[in-house]
Amino acid sequence: MDKLIIEGGRPLHGEVCISGAKNAALPIIAATLLTGGEHVLTNVPDLRDTRTMLSLLAEMGVRHRRDGSTLSIDSSDITEAEVSYDLVKTMRASVLVLGPLLARLGRAKVSLPGGCAIGARPINFHISGFQRLGVTCRLEHGYVEAFAAGRLQGNSVYFDIPSVTGTENILMAAVLAEGDTIIKNAAREPEVTNLVDTLTAMGASIEGRGTAELIVHGVDRLHPASVAIIADRIEAGTYLIAAAATGGEVVVSGCRPDHLPALLEKLAEVGVDIVTVDNHVTVRADPISRARLKGVDIKTMPYPGYPTDLQAQIMSLMCLCDGMSVIKETIFENRFMHVAELRRLGADIRIEGNTAAVRGLGPGGFNGARVMATDLRASSSLVIGGLAAAGRTEISRIYHLERGYENLVEKLCAVGARVWKETD
Ligand code: EPZ
Repeated sequence: MDKLIIEGGRPLHGEVCISGAKNAALPIIAATLLTGGEHVLTNVPDLRDTRTMLSLLAEMGVRHRRDGSTLSIDSSDITEAEVSYDLVKTMRASVLVLGPLLARLGRAKVSLPGGCAIGARPINFHISGFQRLGVTCRLEHGYVEAFAAGRLQGNSVYFDIPSVTGTENILMAAVLAEGDTIIKNAAREPEVTNLVDTLTAMGASIEGRGTAELIVHGVDRLHPASVAIIADRIEAGTYLIAAAATGGEVVVSGCRPDHLPALLEKLAEVGVDIVTVDNHVTVRADPISRARLKGVDIKTMPYPGYPTDLQAQIMSLMCLCDGMSVIKETIFENRFMHVAELRRLGADIRIEGNTAAVRGLGPGGFNGARVMATDLRASSSLVIGGLAAAGRTEISRIYHLERGYENLVEKLCAVGARVWKETD
């Protein structure tokens, strides 16, 4: 298996260009199942997860071709409406095909996603939402078998928790339903809004864009569309935090600062020198003269609160500040898998339930070590730790990283990091 080697302790200098958002591309690729004809998606990242989603659609008869970051997808001839466990177990976002298949064909059979490192990851909200729209769902042999006697029927759907993919699945199921669907306590993440814009471009009628109440007026037919995937706010946030952790001056370009309100506020509170101009964010943290950074408290919340997908990354930074910080993870039940590995770099972190108390060690707090990636965002927190650590860090199981960070090694080398891949 591949591992990442980092010779750390070097300030980063230069520019990182942000790719399209994984978590916007996955639902939008699934949405192309809603209608035949050729869809054109631009700014699509080439990642393990986007390749998995395209393989999954190809098994159903969907044709696609990639030209750089532009994807052309044609789902005119769907031959299959079933997704196997082998694919779903590698990427739980496979469940996003349920909504469009039910809308277009009235039937779908998808393996239940297993849990993953960060939690049980149930899909009960998805299932109960489909049932509200007149779908019968049978859970048998580890599969969800869903079907509707005729056209789906609009209805009100309420989410106890503003589920991101739950909102996306019900949106895609509702756009071709008879009548109106009102989604209450909907997720407001920018990736959901990117999907709303995509469905609207395909001819859907949706009100409440960007709010927690989405109203879908069902239409009789849709048409293919050309849409741009938004910049990946989690990738951008990861590089901003990395720059703050190593010192130096990094311009993160092609991003959407307005999609990172909580992170930018928190980095300012920490004492990081940040300048935002249009779609560029510059972090300056001169390693010598820089003001000492101070630990702050973090509580993950649904958007626009602090994103759970940037919790592991900022925990690395908190280890390198002065003073204590308390990090509370409210979204997932097991999202501290990175703590044991950060401790190998020297971190002083105590966990009680969903709360981690981090004692800041100052900028020189980490020493390189061999560590193991456990999930996508935990692995990026180890990269940040390795970049800041004195000496050499080796990160194993880096296939986790390749799920969500396009050209990571190239982008880090372009800002002066000493990082490369080796095969174990
Ligand atoms: C999406 O996952 C993202 N994935 C996750 O990013 C992200 O961490 C998460 O939203 C929260 O922002 C994609 O968009 C592909 P949820 P999702 O449904 O939709 C519980 C990454 O690193 N829940 O918003 O699966 C659930 O267990 C990934 O890129 C139910 O109980 O998350 C969790 O505690 C990781 N029943 C909470 O709700 C359900 O039916 C929020 O989950 C659905 C969710």
